[in-house]
Amino acid sequence: MDCVLVAGGAGYIGSHACKALSKAGYIPVCYDNLSTGWEEAVKFGPFERGDLLDRARIDEVLAKHKPIAIMHFAALSQVGESMDDPGLYWRTNVMGSLNLIEAAVEADIKNFIFSSTCATYGDQDNVVLDENSVQQPINAYGASKRAVENILYDFERRYGLRHVIFRYFNVAGADPEGEVGEYHQPETHLIPLMLDAIDGKRDALTIFGTDYDTPDGTCIRDYVHVCDLVDAHLLGLNWLKDGKQSEVFNLGTGAGFSVRAVVDHSKDVTNKAVPIIERTRRAGDCTQLVSGSTKAESELGWTPVRSNLKAMIGDAWRWHQTGHYSK
Ligand code: UFG
Repeated sequence: MDCVLVAGGAGYIGSHACKALSKAGYIPVCYDNLSTGWEEAVKFGPFERGDLLDRARIDEVLAKHKPIAIMHFAALSQVGESMDDPGLYWRTNVMGSLNLIEAAVEADIKNFIFSSTCATYGDQDNVVLDENSVQQPINAYGASKRAVENILYDFERRYGLRHVIFRYFNVAGADPEGEVGEYHQPETHLIPLMLDAIDGKRDALTIFGTDYDTPDGTCIRDYVHVCDLVDAHLLGLNWLKDGKQSEVFNLGTGAGFSVRAVVDHSKDVTNKAVPIIERTRRAGDCTQLVSGSTKAESELGWTPVRSNLKAMIGDAWRWHQTGHYSK
C-alpha cells in the first residue's frame, strides 16, 4: 500500500484526513509534534513524533516510509494569536513549511498538498472571492500561509514539485462516526465555544463585534464540513497522481452565515439556548469571508454533502458530548 505523509495528522483536520486516506487504501503516516494535536487522534496509521523545525527528523521519516505524497496540515491557525505573536507564526508556519518542502524535493516526492486559507484574501468588501482574487491578508496567520503558497510556486518552477493548494474557508463539524473531532486547548473557534456555552462548560459565548457592516452587525463566514474538506484532499491527491498541473482551489460552499445565524441554528439542533455576551471586535477579524468559486466542484469533481449548518453543528454536538481527547 502507498504511504502518504500527513504533517499535522494528530490535529483536527489532519486526523480526519488520516481516516479518509486509510479508508481509501493508503497508509497515512502521521508526523506531528503534538503541540496542538492529540496522540489519541492518531488511529489510522503509524505515528512519527517530530517537529517541522527539525529537518533531520523529517528526512529520517521520509526515508523510512517513502511516501508518494505529502499532505501538510501542520500549522498554527489562530488569527488572534497571530496578531499577538507574529514571529511565532512566521517561524512555525513558514520556516516549518520550508523545511518540509525542501525535504520533499530532496526525497524526490512529487506531490504536495497544502492547507492554505481564505485569510490570505484579507478583508475585501463586496468582492467575490475566487482563486484569482488579490491576496492581501490583514493578519499574520493569513500572511504566513500566503508566504508558503509563494514558496510552493517557486519550488515547482525550480524543482518540479507539483502542488495542490486548498484555501479553506471556516472548517466545522466532526467525523459522523465519532472517531475523531475538533478539540483545541485552548479553544478559540466559534462553534465549539458555542457548544461549551450551551452545556454549561463556560458561562457564555462572547460575540466579538456587533458593529460590522453586515445585516445583523456580526461577521459572516462560509462554513465547510471537515469531512467534505478532506474528501477534496483525496480528489487533490488523485489529481496529482493523474499527472495534472499544480492548482489552487477554494474550499467553501458559497453560503455565508453571520455569527448570530450560527447561534440561531444551534438552538434548532440542540434545543437549547445559547447564553451570549456581546463584546468589541477581535483583532484581525475580517468582516466577511465567503467563497465565490465553484472551481473545486467543476474541475476536481468535489461535491460537499455535509456542509450545511444543521449537519456541521449536529456532528460537532455529538462529538462534543461523547468524544474528547485528554493529554
Ligand atoms: N467568534 C465570536 N466569538 C468567539 C469565537 C469566534 O464571535 O468566541 C466569531 C469571530 O469573530 C469570527 C467568527 O466567529 O467572526 C468565526 O471565528 P473562528 O475563530 O471560529 O474562525 P476564524 O474565522 O477566526 O478563523 C478560522 C480558522 C482560520 C481561517 C479562518 C478563515 O481558524 O484558520 O477561519 O476565516 F483562516
